[in-house]
Amino acid sequence: MLDKVASPAGAQKANQEVDFASAGPSTPAGIFLRKFWQPICVSSELAVGKAKPIHVMGEKFTLYRGQSGAAYVVSFRCSHRLTQLSTGWVKEDTIQCMYHGWAFNGGGKCVFRPGEDPSGPAPAADIKGLPTREHCGLIYAYFGTGEAPSFPPFPDYTERGVIENFSSELPCNWFQTYENHIDEVHVAFVHSFGGSHSKLGRGLQLPEINAYETPYGMVRETKSGEGNLRATLYLFPNTMRIIIPSFNDVKHVGSMNGMSGWRDAYVTLVPIDDENHTLYITQLAQITPDEAEEHRASWAKFQQRIADSAPVKLVAADILAGRYSLYDVLDHPLLVIVEDAVAQSGQGAIVDRASEHLGRTDIGIVRMRRVLAREYKAIMEGKPTKNWVYSGEPPIRGF
Ligand code: FES
Ligand SMILES: [Fe+2]
Repeated sequence: MLDKVASPAGAQKANQEVDFASAGPSTPAGIFLRKFWQPICVSSELAVGKAKPIHVMGEKFTLYRGQSGAAYVVSFRCSHRLTQLSTGWVKEDTIQCMYHGWAFNGGGKCVFRPGEDPSGPAPAADIKGLPTREHCGLIYAYFGTGEAPSFPPFPDYTERGVIENFSSELPCNWFQTYENHIDEVHVAFVHSFGGSHSKLGRGLQLPEINAYETPYGMVRETKSGEGNLRATLYLFPNTMRIIIPSFNDVKHVGSMNGMSGWRDAYVTLVPIDDENHTLYITQLAQITPDEAEEHRASWAKFQQRIADSAPVKLVAADILAGRYSLYDVLDHPLLVIVEDAVAQSGQGAIVDRASEHLGRTDIGIVRMRRVLAREYKAIMEGKPTKNWVYSGEPPIRGF
């Protein structure tokens, strides 16, 4: 049975008082997000010897991969005259500034200053160096204070297969997408354009939803008609673990318990700033040795189609500007993400939660806000937050 939302008016009042959107370093949500490892790049998109600027939770940094193969995150700017370090050279495992050649190691220590006396290490010129690690095809960094939590943030997959990764930038506040993730009712409408829902035999059938707090975050349980129970996990603060059908280009390769194309996916939403975020996907395709070649080819085709297509955030912006509609982009390789991006950025870059009118189908959103509001309040009062622990229980497909 669905629980009733006890007091939508009360929920709305609470929403006016809690800042769910701001993720800067001194905000409650920003402090909470910084207690956890955050993905910052797909591993395969950072070659040895390359550096790039990154923008995470309202702050900028430099990401580079040394000759040893290790990835590092250091300050955005050189400490000498503050130019952008990502434009410099990676030498062994240091990054050297392109302006006057000062060099820094992955821990942020200034190790070389050409022409200075001495030219060796200069602690006063050190910059920041953040803990940086890799897991299941993503590079993670720790942006918080004190010692980083244990790594990896999620256990390895226990099933065999091939890990697929990709990322996509979305043009709205991260929490709008996280709320969307706990809102299964949207699927029947938002994803009716491409028909992904009706292809699963669900059409406009709406699920009964329950959602409650767990040791790792929240679980959402849904049931549609005579269908099986589906359980989707919300690993706090910003990850969802879900069993989902794969994208069209690769859906016929890899199966899960006999169902073709399904994936065990971790989806993490990392704020770029308060009005943009990056969605990172890590998913296991249970490919048999016989399917390996076909999978490689279809994944490569999918990647190529993404590269040849307009970025999701631009397509969503064009649709919201009225230049065309979702029916005009049904062949976009990331159509499902475009559909979601239109709905969530259509709420405004930062939704005005005080103006919403919530109903019984919003039970997951209401409860997630309530739990996070409790954590943010603890942070504001200088009290400890809950010790969130994920021991690896899997989601349930439910189809
Ligand atoms: S600004 Fe980087 S070495 Fe001068
Ligand atoms: Fe969706």
